[in-house]
Amino acid sequence: MKPIYIIGFMGAGKSSVGSLLATLNHLQFIDTDIFLEARFRKSIRDMFVEVGEERFRQREHSVIEELSGMNDTVIATGGGLPCFHNNMALMNETGKTVYLEASDEALFDRLCLCKRTRPAICNLSEEEIREFVHATMLKRRPVYEQAQYRISAEQLMNRDDEVRLAQEIAENLNL
Ligand code: S3P
Repeated sequence: MKPIYIIGFMGAGKSSVGSLLATLNHLQFIDTDIFLEARFRKSIRDMFVEVGEERFRQREHSVIEELSGMNDTVIATGGGLPCFHNNMALMNETGKTVYLEASDEALFDRLCLCKRTRPAICNLSEEEIREFVHATMLKRRPVYEQAQYRISAEQLMNRDDEVRLAQEIAENLNL
């Protein structure tokens, strides 16, 4: 089976729902952020600082190209990955794409809880995060919406919600 790509904004739940989807369906799970960190032996945060966003996006592109050949794998992508270097088209051509959809408000609430580890927002105030989510989603939404499947991740508070979403994706994809 071709790869299943889980896409969406930071805080949408890609990694938690993606890894559950993989476990429940006996598939392999890869998170592109973790894959990049292992390959370059650096945190995403340090990579952003040391080589800059452009190089980071090139690295993401080569990684998703490489992973696109994998079978029986759920791949949770970094939030920005679909929006650079034609990666959305690449993913649509090589596998199934699932967009975890959430409103700007829900994303804002979740990001405020875990901003420390995220280079794009770790130095921003709450008001700046709100503006960042809004402005970035305006640009990214049209790309995310090219996914073949859209699943609402608006309600994602606990493990039960994550399991429910993973099951919903499995049903939609006839796994
Ligand atoms: C980014 C999202 C992050 C990570 C990097 C950039 C983005 O991934 O790839 O910090 O531009 O939205 P997550 O969506 O997994 O947090």
